[in-house]
Amino acid sequence: MTRSITLSDGTKIPSLAWGNMGGKEKALSAGAAALKAGILHIDSAQIYGTEAEVPGAIKAAGLKREDVYVTTKLWKFQETTIGLEEIRASVKRSLDALESIPNLLLIHNPYIPEKGKLGEFWGHLETLVADGTLKGCSLGVSNFRPVDIEAVMAVAKIKPVVNQVEFHPYVLAHLDPLIKTHSQHSIVTQGYASLAPIHRHPTGGPVKPILTRLAKKLSAESGVDVDEAGVLILWTKVRDLTPEEIEEIDQAGRKVHFRHWTEHMTNEFPDPDLPSDV
Ligand SMILES: NC(=O)c1ccc[n+]([C@@H]2O[C@H](COP(=O)([O-])OP(=O)(O)OC[C@H]3O[C@@H](n4cnc5c(N)ncnc54)[C@H](OP(=O)(O)O)[C@@H]3O)[C@@H](O)[C@H]2O)c1
Repeated sequence: MTRSITLSDGTKIPSLAWGNMGGKEKALSAGAAALKAGILHIDSAQIYGTEAEVPGAIKAAGLKREDVYVTTKLWKFQETTIGLEEIRASVKRSLDALESIPNLLLIHNPYIPEKGKLGEFWGHLETLVADGTLKGCSLGVSNFRPVDIEAVMAVAKIKPVVNQVEFHPYVLAHLDPLIKTHSQHSIVTQGYASLAPIHRHPTGGPVKPILTRLAKKLSAESGVDVDEAGVLILWTKVRDLTPEEIEEIDQAGRKVHFRHWTEHMTNEFPDPDLPSDV
């Protein structure tokens, strides 16, 4: 069982999720396995095409809908401005596929609304919460830069509770201003691609040898086989490592800028002047 984090709207979210991107079969079978292993939070999205597999995974794990925290994310399926009724129809398609209202609904990236329309789009989501379409659902964002967060905060009656972004040691330097913006507005930083330093970066970079050393140490201390990915997850959750070990990984990470998912976060939010491939 994973611990929970309390969000700014008073609801609780399990601190670890299983993401169901990667095909319908995986969403069903690996989704059920993740739930059975105690990861009671499925992170889905319209664009993954796997929202409809969420109820099946929950049933296959022998659980009820209320046992599981479900997140989905809105995509853009047309080029024109998305008004309230288009957003309502899009949300209803998700509700039908999920067979329930999600616990958390995110705007998948800041380019889903037309340029300059983030505040308006957010207002429409607030209307859907108020009129019961999204009763009890928390609202959040994903891949938002500081400028996007401020555009939403300028109009928000319901505050975004999370911003889901690529998060690992090699984006720390870039994300400094974003994390500061999050803390100003009590927004939880929700990480994805947390393992990118070891399975996406070409060499593993300066963080890899530290992870290897800590994995050996934790395995010896606990008697459980902890690998480098396990140490990186512990770092992401700021758990079970000493403050000195977390700091050592932070400092090594800050020597490199490496991002796997590059399409959202660079415009109007320049990369730091750091090498990517050391
Ligand atoms: N909001 C967004 O825009 C956004 C973008 C991307 C992802 N996400 C979310 O994040 C989820 C995960 O996506 P991701 O690809 O970015 O995840 P990730 O955590 O960076 O990587 C998952 C990959 O890690 C590999 N892996 C698992 N355990 C490992 C280990 N012990 N050692 C080495 N490799 C290991 C897996 O390999 P195998 O396949 O071989 O098991 C899988 O390919 C998605 O399903 C989605 O929910 C959100």
